[in-house]
Amino acid sequence: MKSELVLVLALFLSVNGKPLSERRTYNKLLLISFDGFRWDYDQDVDTPNLDKLVKEGVKAKYINPPALTMTSPSHFTTITGRWIEDHGVVHNLMFNDTTGLRVPHKATLKKSEWWDNGVLPLWITAQKQGLKTASFYYPGGGVNYSGQAVNRFLVENHGSPDDNETEWQQNIDTVMGWFAKEDFDFVTLYYGEPDNVGHAVGPETHERRKIIEQIDRTIGYLRESIHKNALTDHLNVILTSDHGMTTIKNATEVKEIVLANYISLLKLTRFDLLDYGGFGMITPREGKEQEVYNALKNAHPNLTVYRKDELPENFHMKKHARIQPIVLLADLGFNINSRLILDINKGDHGFSSEEMDMKMFFRAFGPDFSPNFLAEPFDSVSIYPLMCKLLGVVPEANNGSLSDTKGMLVDNFDAGGSSGRIQVSFTLLVVSTVILTLI
Ligand SMILES: *[C@@H]1O[C@H](CO)[C@@H](O)[C@H](O)[C@H]1NC(C)=O
Ligand SMILES: *[C@@H]1O[C@H](CO)[C@@H](O)[C@H](O)[C@H]1NC(C)=O
Ligand SMILES: *[C@@H]1O[C@H](CO)[C@@H](O)[C@H](O)[C@H]1NC(C)=O
Ligand SMILES: *[C@@H]1O[C@H](CO)[C@@H](O)[C@H](O)[C@H]1NC(C)=O
Ligand SMILES: *[C@@H]1O[C@H](CO)[C@@H](O)[C@H](O)[C@H]1NC(C)=O
Ligand SMILES: *[C@@H]1O[C@H](CO)[C@@H](O)[C@H](O)[C@H]1NC(C)=O
Ligand SMILES: [Zn+2]
Repeated sequence: MKSELVLVLALFLSVNGKPLSERRTYNKLLLISFDGFRWDYDQDVDTPNLDKLVKEGVKAKYINPPALTMTSPSHFTTITGRWIEDHGVVHNLMFNDTTGLRVPHKATLKKSEWWDNGVLPLWITAQKQGLKTASFYYPGGGVNYSGQAVNRFLVENHGSPDDNETEWQQNIDTVMGWFAKEDFDFVTLYYGEPDNVGHAVGPETHERRKIIEQIDRTIGYLRESIHKNALTDHLNVILTSDHGMTTIKNATEVKEIVLANYISLLKLTRFDLLDYGGFGMITPREGKEQEVYNALKNAHPNLTVYRKDELPENFHMKKHARIQPIVLLADLGFNINSRLILDINKGDHGFSSEEMDMKMFFRAFGPDFSPNFLAEPFDSVSIYPLMCKLLGVVPEANNGSLSDTKGMLVDNFDAGGSSGRIQVSFTLLVVSTVILTLI
C-alpha cells in the first residue's frame, strides 16, 4: 500500500505540472548575536571578514534597541518582535517584589516562569508550522513556552569562559552539523563577547579591539564552514547584538549617584532593583510613593525619575505589571548606586536607547540578501518579521515592520514559485487525504 501511495502521489504531481522540488522552498536561517557589539566597533579595528560582508551582503548603519538596553529584554524583543511591555522580560534578573526574590542572570535563563508570559518566540511559532529549530545559548531558548520547548537547546553554564576562540569555532561546527546533517531550519547562536570585555575594561580599550578581531576571525571561520557544508546557497545569516557599551565612572566628570544620600531606603522602600548600572526600579512602602518621588526627583542632575505612569510612550515599558512604581534612568556613564559604590565595571549599558553608544550592530548575508546594501537605521523589533519572511513562517502579532527591512532582500525573493511552505504542506495534506480515501 505504501508503494501504491507513492506511485499515485507521483502521478498526481506529474499531471499537475511542476514537481514539488520546483516549487517555492525556503532557505535556512542562522541568527547570531554577539552580546554588547556596539554598532561602531568595527571602525577602529582591522576587520577583513566583516568588510568583505559589506560588499557581499547587507549592513545597517546601526539599529535601535528597545528602551531597556539590557541583555534579556533586548534579546527577547528580537526573537518575538514585541516591545518589553508586551513580552514582560523587563530585566536580566528574575525578581518578585513581594517575596524579595532576585535570581541571578544565568539562573534566570532556566526559569520558564520568567520568560513565558503569553508572547511566543519565533522558535515555537516556527515549530508549530512544521519547522525544526534550535538555540545555542541564546537567552530565552532554554525554557518552555505554553509547555513547549525549543526542539534542541543548549543553555550556557555558569562560569563557562566566554572568550575561548577554539570553543567559538566548535560551536559553529555544531550548528553547521544541525543544519547540514539534521536539517534544522532555524538556529539562534549566542556569544557572550564583546560584552564581558566591555564591562571589565571599558569599550575604548586595546582588549576590546582584540576581541573584535577575534569575532572577525570567527566570522571568517563561519563562512568557510558554511561553504564546506555546502550551505552557501541555502543558508541566510543575520549577525546582530542586543545593545552597545559606554565608558562609566570616568572620574574626571562623574559625581556618583548614591540614593541613600537622598532617601532612607530602609524606611521608604519595600523592594528595589538597584546597583545594576544606569537603570533601576523602586517599590516604595505603602503610602510612601510620593515621598520617594519627591526626594529623588531633583536629587542629582544626571538622574531622571519617572512614576510608572509617566514613562514616555515611546519606551513601550509602562504597560507591564512587572515594571515597579518608580523607574530610574541615569545619564550616559552614571551608575545608580543604593548605599555604597559596589560596581567595579569600567563599561556598561542599560542607558537610554537614544544614546549612540547604546545602538546595536546589524549585518546579513546569504542567498536571499542583496549584495552591497546599506540599510538605514531601524528598530530591532523589525528583525522578527524579516526572519518570518525568510523562513516562510506566518508571524504572530508583533510590533515590527517588514517595510523597515524588506528592501534588503533580493528583488525576486517573492517570485520563487507559486506557493509558500504552508500551501505546499496544505496541498500535500489534501492530496494524501484524497488518495487515502480512494485506496
Ligand atoms: C511573587 O511571589 C508570591 C508568593 O510566592 C506570589 O503569590 C506572586 O504571584 C509572585 N508575584 C509575581 C509577580 O510573580
Ligand atoms: C520543560 O518541560 C519539560 C517537560 O514537562 C520539563 O521536564 C522541563 O523541566 C521544563 N523546563 C523548564 C526550564 O521549565
Ligand atoms: C579552550 O577550549 C579548548 C576546547 O574545549 C580547550 O582545549 C582549551 O584548553 C581552552 N583554552 C583555554 C585558554 O581555556
Ligand atoms: C573621560 O573624560 C575625559 C574628560 O572629559 C575625556 O576627554 C575622555 O575622552 C573620557 N574617556 C573616555 C574613555 O570616555
Ligand atoms: C550631567 O548633568 C550635567 C548637569 O545637568 C550636564 O551638564 C551633563 O551633560 C550631564 N551628563 C550627561 C552625560 O548627560
Ligand atoms: C504591539 O503589538 C501588539 C500585538 O499586535 C499590540 O497589542 C500592541 O498594542 C502593540 N504595541 C504598540 C505600541 O503598538
Ligand atoms: Zn547584553
